Amino acid sequence: MKLAVVVAFAALAEGFVATSICHHHPRHAARDPALSASTESPYALLFDCDGVIIETEELHRLAYNAAFKEFNLKIGDEPVEWSVAYYDVLQNTVGGGKNKMFFHFRNTTGSFPSSEDGRPAPTTPEEEQDLIDRLQARKTDLYKDLIAEKAQARPGVLELMDQALADENIRVGVCSASTKAAVTKVLDVTLGAERRQKLDVCILGDDVSKLKPDPLIYVTAAERLNVDPARCVVIEDSIVGLKAAKGAGMRCIITYTTSTENEDFYALGCDGKVPELGSAGVTLEMIFEPMKRDGPDAEILVGVKD
Ligand SMILES: *[C@@H]1O[C@H](CO)[C@@H](O)[C@H](O)[C@H]1NC(C)=O
Repeated sequence: MKLAVVVAFAALAEGFVATSICHHHPRHAARDPALSASTESPYALLFDCDGVIIETEELHRLAYNAAFKEFNLKIGDEPVEWSVAYYDVLQNTVGGGKNKMFFHFRNTTGSFPSSEDGRPAPTTPEEEQDLIDRLQARKTDLYKDLIAEKAQARPGVLELMDQALADENIRVGVCSASTKAAVTKVLDVTLGAERRQKLDVCILGDDVSKLKPDPLIYVTAAERLNVDPARCVVIEDSIVGLKAAKGAGMRCIITYTTSTENEDFYALGCDGKVPELGSAGVTLEMIFEPMKRDGPDAEILVGVKD
């Protein structure tokens, strides 16, 4: 008896470590696993954070440029600065901030910049990594300041999340390529601490070894939730995120912005594209009722998707 208690506690503790910025809601923690075979198999609704819960693209861009300026990054005499149009390209090419910087210096400019007080450009992979790590740390701090000032949830997101949280049969999570420090701040400001702690899973860039478009983050979410990927619905805003969701075998809804409205999301397997969840009038029923009625491949968002 004592042993069983210890094992159960260890399993619980492990769950808390794995989802350290959100906690299992009592609605699921109270369940007896022995009963689960007789209850309906669960579904999951997984939200990307940046671009879906809030439009962060511009805030990220401003924070990178502020960090580049503080570090006095220069290639030759040219200061490093990312334009709106170029940041769109980065956003649709590589997931994660460090990867964006590596991509910029390796693929776009072909050389790393000099930095503070005329420090020469890094010459070894270790020096490159060190510069990128320090830039990312500073950018994250600057970004958190911007979020605290300006963050607000996109229309309809909180309403849909609350409907899902109120449904006993739907697990709810956030899967973001951003770092824990950045996402925690965003979720605190936009969702509030109480709603955030009801989430069944939060998986962040720091938690997985491969970032989107690799499907690992969503594969990991399905495993931790113990939900069949075919019964998981992801809400994303980008090609990179769509590829990650489809690679994990999940359904994927796209909420687009003016910078992504012309992407051909349907060609890559998107299951429904809307400008905003709120303006399109997306409800939980429009997503999950067809799946419950006609199976996990059923057409969703009938009549509201583009
Ligand atoms: C960046 O360049 C490297 C080396 O040429 C290449 O392997 C990689 O695929 C490029 N990255 C992207 C995202 O295009």
